[in-house]
Amino acid sequence: MRLLISGASGLLGVNLALEACRVHTVFGVVHQTPIITDQFQVVQADLTQDGEVERLMETIQPDWIINCAALANLEACENNPPLAKKLNTDLPSKLAAFVARGGARLLQISTDAVFDGQRGNYREEDEPHPISVYAQTKFAGEQAVLQIAPQSLVVRVNFFGWSITGNRSLAEFFYNNLIANEPVMGFTDVYFCPLLANDLAYILFALMEGNRSGLYHVVAGQAMSKYEFGVAIARQFGLDERLIQPTHLAQANFRVARSPNMTLNTKKLQRDLSLALPSIETEIERFRDLWLQRYPTKLRQMRKI
Ligand SMILES: NC(=O)c1ccc[n+]([C@@H]2O[C@H](COP(=O)([O-])OP(=O)(O)OC[C@H]3O[C@@H](n4cnc5c(N)ncnc54)[C@H](OP(=O)(O)O)[C@@H]3O)[C@@H](O)[C@H]2O)c1
Repeated sequence: MRLLISGASGLLGVNLALEACRVHTVFGVVHQTPIITDQFQVVQADLTQDGEVERLMETIQPDWIINCAALANLEACENNPPLAKKLNTDLPSKLAAFVARGGARLLQISTDAVFDGQRGNYREEDEPHPISVYAQTKFAGEQAVLQIAPQSLVVRVNFFGWSITGNRSLAEFFYNNLIANEPVMGFTDVYFCPLLANDLAYILFALMEGNRSGLYHVVAGQAMSKYEFGVAIARQFGLDERLIQPTHLAQANFRVARSPNMTLNTKKLQRDLSLALPSIETEIERFRDLWLQRYPTKLRQMRKI
């Protein structure tokens, strides 16, 4: 298959592209982070510019588009709502309009943050209640895709992993600080179910290969607090877990509201794919295995300076 992966310089996109290119022809679209690799073709484009989506599709003629491009930083979205809308809502809408004309399928990456996190264990049919510009624009992107091109896949995810810049994921945040002996906060009242990006990739491929469409929750099989996650990272790497200060979300005084309980129900995914999802502990072991294989160094070397 010919896969166009947008956001291929980002945390999810690069890991997805590296896993996909083992079996597929991958075109990875980057914007401001140039990368160099012989494993997939890199294309530079600003996908917010008029005509760019159409130009790329004409040139690449993909079978599937996996849209990982986004403004994924909560503060950046709050500071620039028009840009958040362009990337998180208008871009998926344009991609959906393209695939609705035939010839390609779309997998839109969305987020657990569409829920306000007051309850947790959210199912696909539960009504989202986004509480930030990021979440609102991502939810609007989901809705546009499912309305314009209902044969598309929309997946709400949460993930961690190694990134090109070395500082994109929560796991890297804990690893970088703990290895430098720096104290950090760990939220005891924020729950999530992150998958390792590399493993998330194969679940997404299975959904695509299974010709699935519609909305899926794709996260790990169980939940953890962010504090517990930090402690698990510390233990896995033999680092000092006492550097992680148990903290309540309210103590952090974030300017942008965050959902406390982002746990998602994955029954639909497990039933439709007949799979058992890995635990977060397993995923953290796999994160360390990648480190032992010098995967973070390989990623850093992809960065073209
Ligand atoms: N990170 C998480 O924990 C998390 C959790 C739930 C859901 N998600 C969702 O997962 C997806 C991927 O997130 P991520 O964390 O991998 O994001 P990320 O690391 O911030 O990457 C964002 C990507 O978007 C690209 N991009 C930004 N502006 C662009 C533009 N104008 N034209 C073309 N490309 C542009 C960036 O390219 P350059 O860097 O080259 O400019 C980068 O490759 C997003 O949809 C996000 O909402 C993330």
